[in-house]
Amino acid sequence: MSIDALDADKIRQRLEQEDQAYRLRTGENDLPPAAMRFRVIGECGIEEFVRGGERTREVLETAVRDAGKPIERFEDALDFGCGCGRVVRAFRKHASRLRLHATDVDREAIGWCRENLTFAEFQVNAGKPPLPYGEGQFDLVWAISVFTHLDEERQFAWLSELQRILRPGGFLLATVYGRPSWESSSVFWQDKSPEFVRQIEARGFHFANTGSDDDLFPDTFPDWYQMTWHTRDYVEREWARYFDIRLYRPQGMLGDQDLIVAERTGRQP
Ligand SMILES: C[S@@+](CC[C@H](N)C(=O)[O-])C[C@H]1O[C@@H](n2cnc3c(N)ncnc32)[C@H](O)[C@@H]1O
Repeated sequence: MSIDALDADKIRQRLEQEDQAYRLRTGENDLPPAAMRFRVIGECGIEEFVRGGERTREVLETAVRDAGKPIERFEDALDFGCGCGRVVRAFRKHASRLRLHATDVDREAIGWCRENLTFAEFQVNAGKPPLPYGEGQFDLVWAISVFTHLDEERQFAWLSELQRILRPGGFLLATVYGRPSWESSSVFWQDKSPEFVRQIEARGFHFANTGSDDDLFPDTFPDWYQMTWHTRDYVEREWARYFDIRLYRPQGMLGDQDLIVAERTGRQP
């Protein structure tokens, strides 16, 4: 996609008008700027952003309940790769008894969260571990659409780090692009060649430099942030070195990414 400067100005103006209408209608004033919303969901609409966060929370709550532990039983939660707070803001209703933390490499988004979402504690982390949290600090960590962007070395480094900060019995909920994302004709990516599909299926994991669609908001992502696909077999084999896989739901995240519920066991990788 290529948009010229005039189009980009018009789009920004329209988004500001939509935000203003949403504020007046709902009384919600803590709306992150459109450019930050684009960085987390690849679109800017405020309705999609807020409603998507709520629906994601519902999916996560259903998943932990189905894995044997309802949300009311968790005490310390971390949103890993929280962006501008799309999902953690939906957990505000639990904040009186669930201590909420969130972290991201996106310094600007975290700056906005710190000023506006005061019910949670926010941190900026580096592209590689460690995180500024203690061993076993959390009993719940979610990472929505984060492992969909990491190469294999970073994936393993982060799985190990998330294992460290979870206590035994704690849950990691994560999403990946699974089989439907390369079998469905509607899914975006630039090079859906037979060779590309063969590589994913052969290894069960594929990381590709797909470039980024950043005409509207340039310099959006770090260079290492690209696109990753996983097979279920790969997750069940490789992630099992860090966690027990409790649930694997193909397209379990709102019909798009696969959803994994993994439990932290006592063993070390
Ligand atoms: C597609 S966005 C999803 C954001 C958020 N989880 C949501 O669902 O709205 C991916 C996010 O992961 C963050 N991210 C990627 N790698 C990360 C890492 N190693 N540590 C922390 N955040 C990371 C990005 O900065 C971005 O905010």
